[in-house]
Amino acid sequence: MIRDYTDAEARAALPLKWGHVPEGTIPAWVAEMDYAPAPAVAAAVQAGVAKGMLGYPPFGDHPVVTGLEEAFRGFAQRHWSWAVPEGTSTVTADVITGLRLVLETLCPPGPVVIPLPCYPPFRTVVALAGREAAYVGLDPDSPEATLDLAAVERHFEDGARTLLLCSPHNPTGRVWTRAELEAVRDLAAAHDARVVVDEIHAPLVLPGAEFVPYLTLDPSAVLVTSHSKSFNTPGLKCAQVVTLDPGDTERFRAIPFEANHGHTTLGMLAGAAAWRDSDLWLHTLRNRLDVLREDLAELLAAHLPRARMRPLEATYLAWLDLRAYDVADPAAAGLAHGVMVAPGHDYHPGLEGHVRLNMATSAARLEQVVTRLAAALG
Ligand SMILES: Cc1ncc(COP(=O)(O)O)c(C=O)c1O
Repeated sequence: MIRDYTDAEARAALPLKWGHVPEGTIPAWVAEMDYAPAPAVAAAVQAGVAKGMLGYPPFGDHPVVTGLEEAFRGFAQRHWSWAVPEGTSTVTADVITGLRLVLETLCPPGPVVIPLPCYPPFRTVVALAGREAAYVGLDPDSPEATLDLAAVERHFEDGARTLLLCSPHNPTGRVWTRAELEAVRDLAAAHDARVVVDEIHAPLVLPGAEFVPYLTLDPSAVLVTSHSKSFNTPGLKCAQVVTLDPGDTERFRAIPFEANHGHTTLGMLAGAAAWRDSDLWLHTLRNRLDVLREDLAELLAAHLPRARMRPLEATYLAWLDLRAYDVADPAAAGLAHGVMVAPGHDYHPGLEGHVRLNMATSAARLEQVVTRLAAALG
């Protein structure tokens, strides 16, 4: 059920990921999967095109919008036993836009705490929102890779009032435990701070880990999410901001159309089909990723034995500590040997010797990714 693209298909389908590398180089950088879309998602988009649904998306409440929210509520109930109240989702273009608008509209003044390493746009959106970033270490190379809550607290004491949390975490692949999230909630409550949580990777929690939706613990938090990462549809532009406080929902929905208009009707149709009609495909995808993470561990043991990788609990994005090879920028070295992975310093400025490797490809390509990286590191 998960159909691998051939190289030619991938090059046509994924112009950012594959178009960015010379022919012959394998791209394992940006978070897109080398797989054909879920059949229900493809069918929903094709049906939308057949009906000519290429116009502007609707303002506010409308069956197309409602369909997306209802579908998300159903998904949250089935997968996480979370009964998301009705009328709490607002559509936005994508998670990056949603995060910026939430910071601008719903977050108290003051610096924004960001655990490092982080998904690089976190740093950019905080700057775009006119906020200062307050970084805390999250030691991705320690076995636990836990949040440094004492450092978060110090920033709260110094005036920060917002924490931007990625759950599950990109790039470490960690799934925060209930206890960790409760500790975050208690700390935020003690300092009257707000947590903004990006759960775009939540559908990709792999067997063995349990995902806890943060809003089930802290209803004052704001969730920004999308089906787009798990269902490979980021180009269709559709994400959701979930606010449990009716005042927050009202304030977010009062954002002028001109500032929040990047979503598309086709994206909403795809989102509804993803959340509502694609459980089996998603299940199959997670099984595939479960096998691939084992493959990756074996390939590393065979070809890059000094690489360190935490067991991946979620996502298809593996964080590799390659410092033992003594190459400051292993991603640049890899590029010279026909593989493009993402440099670790993009996620943690100044951090050398790490890469993020996207394993959502065929087993054969994954093997080439690792062997080429091994050749690059000597
Ligand atoms: C944690 C995280 N948030 C957001 C995004 C981007 O989401 P969008 O394309 O909806 O802005 C990504 C993409 O990889 C991501 O990993």
